[in-house]
Amino acid sequence: MAFIELKNATYKYPYTKEPALKDVSYSFEKGKFYGIIGENGGGKTTLCNLMRGLIPHFYLGKLTGEAIIDGVDVREWDTAEISAQIGYVFQNPFTQISGIKETVFEEVAMGLENLGVPKDEILDRVCQVCRQLKIEDLIKNNPNELSGGQRQRVAFASIIVMDPETLIIDEPTSQLDPEGTEDVFEIIHTLKGRGKTLVLVEHKIDLIAEYCDEILVMQHGSIAASGPTKKILSDLSVLDKGAMLPGAAIFGHEMQRAGKPLREIPITVDEAAALVAERGKAEWQSRLKTRALATPTGLRRWRTLTSPYSPASGWRLWGRTAPARPPA
Ligand SMILES: Nc1ncnc2c1ncn2[C@@H]1O[C@H](COP(=O)(O)OP(=O)(O)O)[C@@H](O)[C@H]1O
Ligand SMILES: [Mg+2]
Repeated sequence: MAFIELKNATYKYPYTKEPALKDVSYSFEKGKFYGIIGENGGGKTTLCNLMRGLIPHFYLGKLTGEAIIDGVDVREWDTAEISAQIGYVFQNPFTQISGIKETVFEEVAMGLENLGVPKDEILDRVCQVCRQLKIEDLIKNNPNELSGGQRQRVAFASIIVMDPETLIIDEPTSQLDPEGTEDVFEIIHTLKGRGKTLVLVEHKIDLIAEYCDEILVMQHGSIAASGPTKKILSDLSVLDKGAMLPGAAIFGHEMQRAGKPLREIPITVDEAAALVAERGKAEWQSRLKTRALATPTGLRRWRTLTSPYSPASGWRLWGRTAPARPPA
């Protein structure tokens, strides 16, 4: 069943001429991991704002069409209730930090405090999440004095500590180094394992290829392409829609152009490695055959080896495929 259903949703921010979302229709199902990619200004953040009800409750402007969250139109949702259901990690971590708490611990604990969660439980959950996000050393620091990357981790921690069923995560790694990025993807992967519904905006396309179930490509406020990750990220036409393709997919297309096609276009490094090995093996076998058939002795030997009734293949086939005779 669709958890978030958009039907011809069109939205224009106040005082702007062009809609930031144009006729967007899509079904987001529970428990799936969606990746949103595409050029800057394509409407990715605006789409997140709509799915989290900030449009139309916070950003006024004009919304037409339907945005239904868990069976209820977004216009009818209570803002506090929707924020308990859907965790939202903002693109800009500076927006997320409350500015009213004096330590990282208090900042991360704030949402749980507001829900009236018992103190011991708050302590356990905050410590666990801070450990996961490797910010234990910062828990006594002032959140307003952190670097961009540290703020991004704190902002992410303050949302996952709430353990919402659905998470919308807008570019969570923009301020992080490769190691920090891997940490965040690992956590997102764990959340998927726990059956959470995830919507992630991210430019790091190789990681999107590895983890997401479905992809939406946003361009000029519309969905320019959408569908299963493998289908979308192996298609060269995505490049014309302002999005990138994984390195493995580009390699697959280059192999095709060079007249050495792989069985299919890979989208991850592991897939590429397996397909290259498969191709290498097939090439080696065909080269061996060509060489064997080039001389009369080779031809005889090849026949002996491949005939189901020869002693050599009889040995190989004996006990597996019936037609071989037992060896004399
Ligand atoms: N608060 C806002 N007020 C007016 N226009 C906005 C606002 N936020 C975004 N826009 C415009 O909406 C369009 C889509 O922006 P955005 O959703 O932020 O794209 P993306 O996240 O893909 O970079 C852009 O043209 C942008 O200028
Ligand atoms: Mg954005």
